[in-house]
Amino acid sequence: MSAEQYRSFFDLHGKVALITGAGRGIGYAIAEGLGAWGAKIAFAELNPETCASAEARLKAEGIDATGYVCDITKRDGLKPLLDQVWAEVGPVDILVNNAGVSDRIAAEDYPDDAFDKMVDLNLGALFRLTRDVAKRWIDEGIKGRVINLASFAGVVADPMSAPYAATKGAVVQLTRTWAVEWAQHGILVNAIGPGYVRTEMTAHTLDSPEAGVVIRQKTALGRAGNVSEMAGAVIYLAGPGASYTTGHILMVDGGWTAM
Ligand SMILES: NC(=O)c1ccc[n+]([C@@H]2O[C@H](COP(=O)([O-])OP(=O)(O)OC[C@H]3O[C@@H](n4cnc5c(N)ncnc54)[C@H](O)[C@@H]3O)[C@@H](O)[C@H]2O)c1
Repeated sequence: MSAEQYRSFFDLHGKVALITGAGRGIGYAIAEGLGAWGAKIAFAELNPETCASAEARLKAEGIDATGYVCDITKRDGLKPLLDQVWAEVGPVDILVNNAGVSDRIAAEDYPDDAFDKMVDLNLGALFRLTRDVAKRWIDEGIKGRVINLASFAGVVADPMSAPYAATKGAVVQLTRTWAVEWAQHGILVNAIGPGYVRTEMTAHTLDSPEAGVVIRQKTALGRAGNVSEMAGAVIYLAGPGASYTTGHILMVDGGWTAM
């Protein structure tokens, strides 16, 4: 190994990354981060305005980015999405399963429809999309990378978020199981476990007087994370330097789960 080879540990030139929910928040930062290291970016985003604006902002930074308006919970939309990405951007090398929802509702009051919607996106869509991408990778001999967005709530309790925590715990177990099952195909599967990160998803919680204080007390670093700090971990997991890392949940939580 030479210094020159170490310098290429984050190089993503020639790679295609497909990111779900990259119109804003953590997903957008991941698109920007992977794009900055040379990856061509394709992203699936529910909201048409957010999709167009994210694509324009990424392109303005010199990133080769294509946004696809797509609700990834719609089962019959996944094949057309992947067909389009494969044909227009290229065969995907890196799949980042980022799209997700959260809410804060007491467990005893949790409505059925909210539960169904959360499970369908955070777990169901992630499962179906990854299965369909992995099938193509195995058929085409692509040694792809899957990077899932889990959460601190997938490994420790997060009161008022029971169904969310359950979906993220499931993502942790999918990550480990897929990693072992697909290792024979050279596919690496990892996840990051963010702590509280300031995005539109969490601004309300972080700004509430009680929750904000609790979060700061429970985070060793004493603050919420930034979206760029999540992208940093994903850049590592996507690149050549992570070639011996699989089945790992990289906690990017300011020390929340260390306490
Ligand atoms: N923000 C945090 O503190 C935090 C902490 C732990 C884990 N996470 C996880 O990180 C991921 C991103 O979180 P965020 O805070 O950036 O969220 P966000 O709500 O700010 O952004 C989510 C994006 O996903 C898109 N999206 C939602 N449903 C979709 C669908 N059906 N199809 C396609 N796109 C869809 C939204 O339009 C939005 O652009 C989520 O999986 C979340 O659970 C976030």
